Amino acid sequence: MKGAQLDCLCVTLLHLLHTAGSERFEVLGPTDPIVAVAGDDIILPCYLKPNISAEDMTVDWLNLDFTDGRVYRYQNHRIIRDDQIPYYGGRTSLFEEELWRGNTSLKLTRVQGTDEGRYKCFIKAKSWYDDFTIQVLVKAVGSKPVVSIEGHREGGMGLLCESEGWHPEPELVWLDSKGVHLSAGPPEIHRDLKGFYTIKQHVIVQETDTNRFTCRVQQSRINEKMETEIHLPSELFDYATPLRMAFIVLFCLGAVTVIGLALAIYCIHNKKDYIKNEKDVLKKEKDKESQRETISTSVHVNDVLTVFHLLYIFTVVITGKLVKVEKDLTSKLEILASQLDFVNTNWSPDFETIRRHAVNVTLDPDTAHRNLILSEDGKQVRHGELNPVLSDNGKRFTNWSCVLGNVGFSGKFYYEVKVEGKTEWTLGVVRKSIDMNERFRPIPNKGCWTLELEDGKYTAHADSPVTLLLREKPQKVGVFVDYEKGQVSFYNVEDRCHIYSFTSCTFTKKLYPFFNPGGSDSVSLVICPVDATD
Ligand SMILES: *[C@@H]1O[C@H](CO)[C@@H](O)[C@H](O)[C@H]1NC(C)=O
Ligand SMILES: *[C@@H]1O[C@H](CO)[C@@H](O)[C@H](O)[C@H]1NC(C)=O
Repeated sequence: MKGAQLDCLCVTLLHLLHTAGSERFEVLGPTDPIVAVAGDDIILPCYLKPNISAEDMTVDWLNLDFTDGRVYRYQNHRIIRDDQIPYYGGRTSLFEEELWRGNTSLKLTRVQGTDEGRYKCFIKAKSWYDDFTIQVLVKAVGSKPVVSIEGHREGGMGLLCESEGWHPEPELVWLDSKGVHLSAGPPEIHRDLKGFYTIKQHVIVQETDTNRFTCRVQQSRINEKMETEIHLPSELFDYATPLRMAFIVLFCLGAVTVIGLALAIYCIHNKKDYIKNEKDVLKKEKDKESQRETISTSVHVNDVLTVFHLLYIFTVVITGKLVKVEKDLTSKLEILASQLDFVNTNWSPDFETIRRHAVNVTLDPDTAHRNLILSEDGKQVRHGELNPVLSDNGKRFTNWSCVLGNVGFSGKFYYEVKVEGKTEWTLGVVRKSIDMNERFRPIPNKGCWTLELEDGKYTAHADSPVTLLLREKPQKVGVFVDYEKGQVSFYNVEDRCHIYSFTSCTFTKKLYPFFNPGGSDSVSLVICPVDATD
């Protein structure tokens, strides 16, 4: 009997040991951190060793930075959504078809900033459990910094730089053209609901020899940076300080005038009283004398009044002039700011993308004014003597020495024109239906989107002309049209910088390249092949 009982116990123990042994497992995963790019879907690997089935186990995924709730739970063959951290709602899943082979990896979709942290993969069977911890780093490169002009501040120009969508927290620096850090205000950093960082910082810049300033936003851990350069025409600085001084002087002058006038009025009253007394005393004996005195006093008071009157007029006139200058300056700043906004928001950051839309433009001799000389290959045009041989074909510019390209375009297109050595030109695009027999300012209203050089002045022919303050004289001009977006932009090809853009235009018909070499020189406008290595 005893022997039989012992046997039985041994069998039971052996059975128990066997059961426990078959459930024993290790949970494994990657030891290196996982770098997840914001917006991507990632897999957090986790598996059992040996590769037994996890179908009957509880699989918990936890983010250790959150004490409440979990990322995901699988239990009793079901997904348990109670206690899920809201950030993970709808973004997590297991590979249920892989559980039977011990694969308990988690799929996380649309990675966001709040996903960074340490994740524990915790697996529990009836009588055994184990876990593994994985580190996840989230990488998000933010937007190209947007620089805006805030106007004159404390004797300099106030600028603001802003960039969003970073992870981890970035750093912002303002640099001058030599790469020297400029001292700026404190950075303002915000974290949005998805855990991405927005950074902005104000700076006041003083005039330098180049007036180029760079806002750089960088993140050293992910080794990324984005920057935007801005060029401020020195004219904007030139006016700033004297204008402010002039206003102060005028203010003082105005104050002096007002005080002066008040004093003068006060004097007149006093004199009158005094004269009245005198008159009373001397009334009977010195009638004539007192009269004379009145006259002389009046003259004296009048002089003072006249001086102050003149001073007053002077102040008004000068103030008017200054207000006009200030208005001019403000409107220039506004144009600059709006163009800057354009570059910031719509212009694709690399000029190379634009150049990929290059098209082959050839001049259409049928449209050329009779005093234009076109090269054989139709790539060059210059001003010359009136050609008596050419007849009026009804398609020609008759009153205006211009020529069009031979093909019209819609969609995105780009071409480059060499203007080197020229003192006058107008370039851009026009509707084919423009009036070729009349000379007019080539403005959008009339179907023209053009840029002009004349008398050393660059003008964008917007509905009211915009004088451009260009530091560098372009030697080669790039014309880019985005038909859908309604944009016509001009670029300085050598400097790879933006000159001017017409925005919010409505195009209904194909646009034709437009060329006017001007009459003041005989240098050719040359359509150049767009060379990617240029
Ligand atoms: C489990 O692992 C063994 C040995 O490592 C392998 O031969 C087998 O194919 C694996 N089974 C599954 C279902 O992945
Ligand atoms: C688990 O399954 C997923 C989906 O099939 C796969 O991508 C992943 O590599 C598997 N992980 C392991 C550790 O086998």
